[in-house]
Amino acid sequence: MPRHRPPAFSVLVLAAFSLCCSPALVSFSHGDSQIPPISEWRTEDYYSGVELVGVSPSGSVVEGPTMEPVEYSLFVLAAERTRRKDPLNGFQAYTSGWNISDRHYWASVGFTAVPLFAVAAAWLLGFGLCLLVVSLCYFCCGRQSYGYSRMAYALSLLFLILFSIASIIGCVILYTGQGKFHNSTSETLEYVVSQADLTAQKLRDVSDYFAAAKQTGVDQVFLPSDVQTDIDQIEIKINSSASILDDKTVHNSNDIKDLLDSIRLALIIVAAIMLLLTFLGFLFSIFGMQLLVYILVITGWLLVTGTFILSGTFLVLHNVAADTCVAMDQWVRNPTAHTALDDILPCVDKVTAQETLLKSKEVSAQLVDLVNEVITNVSNINFSPNFKPMYFNQSGPVMPTLCNPFHPDLTPRTCSSGEVDLQNATQVWGNYVCQVSPTGDICITTGRLTPSLYSQMASGVNLSYALLNYSPTLVELQDCTFVRQTFDDIHRKFCPGLQQYSRWVYVGLATVSIAVMLSLILWIIYGRERHYRASGKGFTSKPTDEELEGTKES
Ligand SMILES: *[C@@H]1O[C@H](CO)[C@@H](O)[C@H](O)[C@H]1NC(C)=O
Ligand SMILES: *[C@@H]1O[C@H](CO)[C@@H](O)[C@H](O)[C@H]1NC(C)=O
Ligand SMILES: *[C@@H]1O[C@H](CO)[C@@H](O)[C@H](O)[C@H]1NC(C)=O
Ligand SMILES: *[C@@H]1O[C@H](CO)[C@@H](O)[C@H](O)[C@H]1NC(C)=O
Ligand SMILES: *[C@@H]1O[C@H](CO)[C@@H](O)[C@H](O)[C@H]1NC(C)=O
Ligand SMILES: *[C@@H]1O[C@H](CO)[C@@H](O)[C@H](O)[C@H]1NC(C)=O
Repeated sequence: MPRHRPPAFSVLVLAAFSLCCSPALVSFSHGDSQIPPISEWRTEDYYSGVELVGVSPSGSVVEGPTMEPVEYSLFVLAAERTRRKDPLNGFQAYTSGWNISDRHYWASVGFTAVPLFAVAAAWLLGFGLCLLVVSLCYFCCGRQSYGYSRMAYALSLLFLILFSIASIIGCVILYTGQGKFHNSTSETLEYVVSQADLTAQKLRDVSDYFAAAKQTGVDQVFLPSDVQTDIDQIEIKINSSASILDDKTVHNSNDIKDLLDSIRLALIIVAAIMLLLTFLGFLFSIFGMQLLVYILVITGWLLVTGTFILSGTFLVLHNVAADTCVAMDQWVRNPTAHTALDDILPCVDKVTAQETLLKSKEVSAQLVDLVNEVITNVSNINFSPNFKPMYFNQSGPVMPTLCNPFHPDLTPRTCSSGEVDLQNATQVWGNYVCQVSPTGDICITTGRLTPSLYSQMASGVNLSYALLNYSPTLVELQDCTFVRQTFDDIHRKFCPGLQQYSRWVYVGLATVSIAVMLSLILWIIYGRERHYRASGKGFTSKPTDEELEGTKES
C-alpha cells in the first residue's frame, strides 16, 4: 500500500481532520506567571494569548511557541488489532501499532489481503494455463470424446445452478453493501465537514468580536497603542485560520466526495457486470452456445482476477478502517499519552491549556480593575479645573463601577449591587457621556465621560469580555478537546457502520469472485457434458459404474 495514497477511510477521517483542525489549533504563548503592574504591561505577553500559530502559509503544521518538552511514554494505539505479520521485517509480528506514517504498518495490513491476492494470481495463471491446454487440445488433438455420464451431467447442472445462485447472492451483497458503505462514508464525511465548519465559525466569531473590541478613539488614555496592533494581528491570524480551514474543508471534502462517488460507481458496475456475466453464461451454456460460452469464459477469467484483487483491496480498507476506529477510541481514552496521532494533530497538553485559560482570566480581571480605577479615581471625582489631565468638567450623578467576575485569587465572584456587568456596561455608561466643547476635551453638559474616554472604556470592557468568553473556545481547539469529542462521536456513531459495510463490500466481492470462478469452470464442464449428451450418447469407450447404474435405472 503506497503511503501517499491511503484508502478512503483514513483519508476521510485523518486527512480531513488533520487539515481541518490543525489550522485551528491555537497556541498561546505564556508570559510570566507573575502579573506585572498595569503600567508595565507588555501586551504581547497577554494578547498573544490568542495568537494562532497552527499553520504556516503553505498549510503545513509548524511548531507552536516553545513549550517545556514533556516526556511521555509512547502509547501504542490499537496494539492488539495491528499485531500482524510484517513482510518488510521477515514476517515477524508488527508491534508499533496504528501509525499511518509507517510503511511497516501498511505492509502488515496489506499482508492480510495476501490470500485473496494469491488466489487472484493462482487463478490468473492456473486457469489461463488450463484454457491454453484445452484450446490446444481442441485444435491439435481434434475432438475426443470422454464419454457421457448421466451423473456427471446432472451434477454439473446442479452445481451450475448452485453457483449461479451464489453469484447472484454475492452481487446482491455487493450492491447492498456498497450502497450502505457509501451512505456511511458520506455521513461520516458530512459530520467531519460540519465540525470543521463549526470550528471555522467559532474562529470567525472570535475574530469579529476582537474587531469590534478594537474600535476605539485615537487618543489612548490607558490602552497602549501596541495593544491595538496586537489585536489587529490576532484578528488577521484568526481570520486567516478560519479561511484556511474553510478552503481546506471544501477542497478536501470535494475530493473525498468524488473518490467515494467513483468507488460507488465502480462497485455498481462490477456488480452489474458480474450479474450479467452469470446470467448470460448460464443461458449460453444451458442452450449450448459453445462459442459464446468460451468468449464469456475468457472475459470472466480476467474479470474474476480483477474482482479478487478488488476484494483484497477492500479487505485492506476494512482493516485500516477498523484499526483507525480502535486507534481513535484509545486516543480519546488516553488523553495524556503520546501517540502516533500526535504527528497529525499537534495538541497542547491539558496543563498548558489550563494555564492559558487562567492567564486570560487574569488579564480579563486586570482590565476590569483598570477600568474601575478610571471610574473611581477620575470620572466620579469632581476635580477643580487646575487638575488638568483629570479635570474635564465632569459633573452629575456618579457612574456605577464594573463588576469583576473574579476575586483576586480568580475564584468566581458574584456582583455586588450597584455594579454593572460586562455585558451591558457600555450600554449603561452611555447615559453618562457628556457633550464636549468644540475645542475638544471639556464637558459642556452634565456627564462624567467624554465620548473619547467612553469609547476607550467600552473597548476595555469589550476586550475583557472577549477574553473571558472566547478563550475557552480557543483553548478547546488548542488542547484538542474538540477533536476528541469529534473522534468520540465518530467512534460511537459512524465506526460500526463503516466497519460493517466495508466488510459487506469485500465479502460480496469475494463471494462474487468465487461463485463466478466456479461458474466459469462449470460452464465448460456442463457445456461438454451437454454436448456429449446431445451428440455422443452411448459413444463411450469405457462406461463407468455409475453410468451402468444410471442405465439400469432407466
Ligand atoms: C463593544 O462590543 C459591542 C458588541 O458586543 C459593540 O456593539 C460595540 O461597538 C463595542 N464597542 C467598542 C468600543 O468596541
Ligand atoms: C475577517 O474576515 C471578515 C469576513 O470573513 C472580513 O470582513 C474582515 O475584514 C476580516 N478581517 C481581517 C482583519 O482580515
Ligand atoms: C510512526 O512512523 C514514523 C515513520 O516510521 C515514525 O517516524 C514515527 O516515530 C512513528 N510514530 C510512532 C508514534 O510510533
Ligand atoms: C486610585 O485611588 C486609590 C484610592 O482611592 C489609590 O489607592 C490608587 O492608587 C489610585 N489609582 C490611581 C491610578 O491613581
Ligand atoms: C444587564 O444585563 C443583565 C442580564 O444580563 C440584566 O439582568 C440587567 O437588568 C441589565 N441591566 C441593564 C441596566 O440593562
Ligand atoms: C461644566 O459643565 C456644566 C454642566 O454640568 C456647564 O454648565 C458648564 O458650563 C461647564 N463648564 C465649562 C467650563 O465648560
